Amino acid sequence: MSPTEILDRYHQCSGRTSDVFPFWLHASGQCSYEMLVNRTSEAHTGDARILDLACGDGYFLNLLWEKGFHHLTGSDRSGAELEAARERLTSAVRLDRADAHRQPYDDRSFDLVTCHMALMLMKPLAPVLTEIARILKSGGRLIALVPRPLLDPVMDCYREALQTVCAETGLKPLQLGDPQLSRRNAATRLLEACGLGGEVRLEDLVVQRSGSVEALWNAMAASYDVFRLPTTARTRLRQRVSAKWRTLSSDGDSLTCRMGLRLITAVRMEGRDPSPQ
Ligand SMILES: C[S@@+](CC[C@H](N)C(=O)[O-])C[C@H]1O[C@@H](n2cnc3c(N)ncnc32)[C@H](O)[C@@H]1O
Repeated sequence: MSPTEILDRYHQCSGRTSDVFPFWLHASGQCSYEMLVNRTSEAHTGDARILDLACGDGYFLNLLWEKGFHHLTGSDRSGAELEAARERLTSAVRLDRADAHRQPYDDRSFDLVTCHMALMLMKPLAPVLTEIARILKSGGRLIALVPRPLLDPVMDCYREALQTVCAETGLKPLQLGDPQLSRRNAATRLLEACGLGGEVRLEDLVVQRSGSVEALWNAMAASYDVFRLPTTARTRLRQRVSAKWRTLSSDGDSLTCRMGLRLITAVRMEGRDPSPQ
């Protein structure tokens, strides 16, 4: 299966992201969705026109609605995710099935484009950023959360076991999205080249999840890496990871796992149209 096929099959079942991410908490007590809502509230008032790009099942849009943002649009390319979003949200929220590379909106339609845990899946990324710049008003903002590498013993155990099981299964490591996004300087240069070079900020954050070995496995099992494994390989990975994790736990079962996130903010530069990529 190609990365695109893996993504599309994974999202034939809706809500896997919003099942998992509310339980990964920042030191402030907020989950990543809540952090993104707060950043939105700090920068914008309720009359802002907002697009949530790759909105999934609408979990984040619903939080924005509850916070008083009522000019909301969501787009995603998964029909199943959008159906779940339609059920969750008031009909006042516009939802469109579209690929991020070709958005069905007029130039300068939005004050803000948000994107929770999805930009890192998009390849090539430059045309997506150019589309975002096109549909943002001058001075409009992109606020996006993406994962970033972070050393953590519990996560490292999982990654090592995953590598071993993939090698045993004859699978190459899964490479989703554009690698430029995971390198700070490259990401900044790319944003600038695509017309989003104003006030670029990349803020590194950590969220963590505590729980039993089983609860943490269930969180990892929701990843694209585990999803694409054949059932026998998945079972082997679970056994291997669970055994390693138990050795790390002080009581043989409870653990805390940390995950790195990066909050990207950038502003559509005044008076400059993005260069076509
Ligand atoms: C990890 S989920 C995040 C969903 C939602 N933002 C959330 O956090 O709950 C990634 C989403 O990106 C969507 N997606 C991935 N690539 C896309 C693309 N090129 N265009 C539009 N949507 C895309 C998937 O369909 C999926 O809904």
